[in-house]
Amino acid sequence: MMAFMIKAGIGKGRMEKMNLKGRDFLKLLDFTPEEITYLVDLAAELKDKKKKGIPMDTLRGKNVALIFEKTSTRTRCAFEVAAHDLGMGTTYLDPGSSQIGKKESIADTARVLAGMFEGIEYRGFGQEIVEELAKYSRVPVWNGLTNEFHPTQMLADLLTIREHFGHLEGIGLTYMGDARYNMGNSLMVTCAKMGMHFTACTTAKYFPDNALVEQCREIAAQTGGSITLTEDALEGTKGVDVVYTDVWVSMGEPDEIWTERIRELSPYQVNRKIMENAGENAVFMHCLPAFHDLKTKIGAEMGQRFGVTEMEVTDEVFESKRSLVFEEAENRMHTIKAVMAATL
Ligand code: CP
Ligand code: NVA
Repeated sequence: MMAFMIKAGIGKGRMEKMNLKGRDFLKLLDFTPEEITYLVDLAAELKDKKKKGIPMDTLRGKNVALIFEKTSTRTRCAFEVAAHDLGMGTTYLDPGSSQIGKKESIADTARVLAGMFEGIEYRGFGQEIVEELAKYSRVPVWNGLTNEFHPTQMLADLLTIREHFGHLEGIGLTYMGDARYNMGNSLMVTCAKMGMHFTACTTAKYFPDNALVEQCREIAAQTGGSITLTEDALEGTKGVDVVYTDVWVSMGEPDEIWTERIRELSPYQVNRKIMENAGENAVFMHCLPAFHDLKTKIGAEMGQRFGVTEMEVTDEVFESKRSLVFEEAENRMHTIKAVMAATL
């Protein structure tokens, strides 16, 4: 990292204190608030350099493997563009075209890939798989989303919030929807780490796991943050800075589940009433992709089956000035670049 930072002329003041070289990036629970801030700062600097057209291909000669056992637009493109900007080569392994998990164990895959690549990105199912990959890999492993966590998304969200509000500490963020899955879990951990106020606003069935809530409350007690769980959509969004949601059915979940999800989560749709309740300075965020109209195959199918025209967020809110979703999407690339630059 040091060589990269010197060549790129980045953050000279901070680099003595922070060394993430060789570290895996599996979940934010593994990182201190200072380390997270460092990665967000680095991303901001890399973003600025990119906008100014300053080359940053200081990792020339290195290669990274991108394993996707689930589909992706943002994460894959972000890793590829970021790696290329840094001068690196990439190899994309899609769900159907490798031996992983079918003919070759995760442990064997880790050792094979570590012999050819300087870093490995993994998107897949259980968190234990990416942890296993990291255990057997002697090069850094980056989590591109598991059922439990989506840590690279978190850095993009922090950068986006900080760009908008100028700070992170004290920001109130409410997550509506399935709060016990990757996005709800990750946002709760992230807010706890960064001294932010997290609210899971959904029906109790979808509250995050108790043990993780307790762990986050302990972290928040140190950082000045807080964790709140509420089933009341208006109480949960009153005066918050950020209203956040995600799809009601995640990748890998069975199709049959849509019926109950639409029934149970519709009261937590982000719409004009929720945004007005949050207040005039509140913003809307979503990791994307989003079902805000009928212009997708699944959206149209749900429209036909359930008579809904929008799901977790209304088209009005999604397309409004308060919506930061496309800034957030762009920031995936700058933050993923920071993770690779810092750990390689
Ligand atoms: N937000 C996100 O991870 O998007 P993709 O599924 O397109 O990578
Ligand atoms: N919860 C979603 C996040 C997509 C970025 C999923 O896992 O499909």
